[in-house]
Amino acid sequence: MKAIILSGGKGTRLRPLTYTGAKQLVPVANKPILWYGIESIVAAGITEIGIIISPETGGEVKAKTGNGDRFGARITYIMQDKPLGLAHAVKVAQPFLGDSPFVMYLGDNLVESQLDMFLSKFQSQQLDALTLLCEVENPTAFGVAKVDAQGRVLQLIEKPKNPPSNLALVGVYLFSAEIHQAIANIQPSARGELEITDAIQYLIDRQQNVQSFQLKGWWLDTGKKDDLLAANQIILDSCSQLTIEGEIDATSKVSGRVHIGSGSRIINSTIRGPVTIGNNCTIKNCFIGPYSSIADDTTLVDADIEHSVILQGAKVVGIQQRIVDSLIGARATLQVAPQRPKAMRFMIGDDSHIEII
Ligand code: DAU
Repeated sequence: MKAIILSGGKGTRLRPLTYTGAKQLVPVANKPILWYGIESIVAAGITEIGIIISPETGGEVKAKTGNGDRFGARITYIMQDKPLGLAHAVKVAQPFLGDSPFVMYLGDNLVESQLDMFLSKFQSQQLDALTLLCEVENPTAFGVAKVDAQGRVLQLIEKPKNPPSNLALVGVYLFSAEIHQAIANIQPSARGELEITDAIQYLIDRQQNVQSFQLKGWWLDTGKKDDLLAANQIILDSCSQLTIEGEIDATSKVSGRVHIGSGSRIINSTIRGPVTIGNNCTIKNCFIGPYSSIADDTTLVDADIEHSVILQGAKVVGIQQRIVDSLIGARATLQVAPQRPKAMRFMIGDDSHIEII
């Protein structure tokens, strides 16, 4: 059994963050989304992993993730020159996959891992495709499945206007080598992509064995800011660690489940977990409230932050109002003068959102 993780494509929904970086590397609880997928694949016993990358962000994905040693896996990077669809990504991965059955994992999905159960159903029933499904309120935003009472998949439609059910396709699939033949026989969709849903439909239409597995845990398609904050909350809730590697001075108070990375300094501040703080951060005269993730090299001074994700190298200084439900990009600066400010001066990237509430 092998695995491929799709980490190419264009990250339009998390703009502006993804103008400069891969959306699969956006951190949740200070760990790239992509790495959760790798860890869950390895936990299911699969160590041969191909990662699909794009020319735009592939270098960054490779540099950050490495050859797999840190995960106990062997990672092969596979270049997809253009984001021509999920089935196209399988096509370019075919030399890596050979005749092996495989897991296909979308690198921007976070799924509460049940990969071992999913895998044992696929293997024991000798399936050609197994899709993971989850009930959602907005099926038009996803691939949607119609299944019979036994869970056999009857029909799949990508982002339908009139969904046949509320069962969305989660970004984790299992395939036998039969899928390559199906992909070779489908045409690009109206949006110009080779759709994996069309390839699976091809198998269904030829009476191959396509089953579904309904996810009972949580699943987050971290496409937008609020999804990312929700994912951050769930992951921080599931972390049990209280690991203090940095320094906390005598006037600071740290309570609840908190991680403070090495080289970080907490000065005259209150940190109330669950909170994770990366390495080499300076946090002075701050309140950092529950469900906040602060990445490496961040400087926070005279600030009050809760339920927010702050990316690497950001600087927040002198903000008296509480910053909530916020996502602050890498190296961004938010600064208010110490005397009562009389004016506001901005340099805000394209597609940014600022709400003063
Ligand atoms: O998240 C679940 C949904 O993922 C499913 O319900 C849909 O059926 C499925 O088509 C997919 O929809 P998205 O619109 O979310 O797909 P997206 O374009 O965001 O791509 C998913 C991942 O695959 C993402 O990490 C980028 C990567 N990708 C995408 C394309 C189109 C590639 O590596 N190559 C590609 O050509």
